[in-house]
Amino acid sequence: MSHAEGVNIKRRRVLIASTAAIASVGVASVATPFVRSWYPSAKAEAAGAAVVQDISAIEDGQMIVVKYRGKPIFVVKRTPAMVATLDKVAPLLADPDSSASLQPEYCLNQSRSRAPNILVVEGVCTHLGCAPNYRPEVGAADLGGGDWYGGFFCPCHGSKYDLAGRVYKGVPAPRNLPVPEYKIDGPILTVGEA
Ligand code: FES
Repeated sequence: MSHAEGVNIKRRRVLIASTAAIASVGVASVATPFVRSWYPSAKAEAAGAAVVQDISAIEDGQMIVVKYRGKPIFVVKRTPAMVATLDKVAPLLADPDSSASLQPEYCLNQSRSRAPNILVVEGVCTHLGCAPNYRPEVGAADLGGGDWYGGFFCPCHGSKYDLAGRVYKGVPAPRNLPVPEYKIDGPILTVGEA
């Protein structure tokens, strides 16, 4: 078995284990695998090299986390139902058009992405830098009930973001989660290159 095959099999096991965990606890909490991309080396990564990740094993609605330049990058495979929430939630957001937020020009759209079903954002709260939790469950009672369409919740001071990383009104975070440069070629996501 080649090294790459070994890594792929290992990652698949992590994803499968995570999915099983989600099934066993229901929607109250969501496990997020922190997957290891197969290159560059740690040294090259620290220097800012692009990170390559096979995203074919991500389940619908699931999030994985990859590391780029020392930051967690959230990668969510959005379902059509999730994409449909992006319009409904807009009136609740501080910057629904992302006019005051950071993203590449090719992601300046409602889904803030190259492809509507794949979200790629920095997992760093724009308030004071905590890591938001992935909370995809629509209507979560602790996050506003009917006003919650799924997204990310920062436990530090209560900031909320939708499923495109757009920040809600009336929370401490001032901006949407930044979108890094990235490209998608078939099942391969490359963060750090357009
Ligand atoms: S760091 Fe996220 S709300 Fe303060």
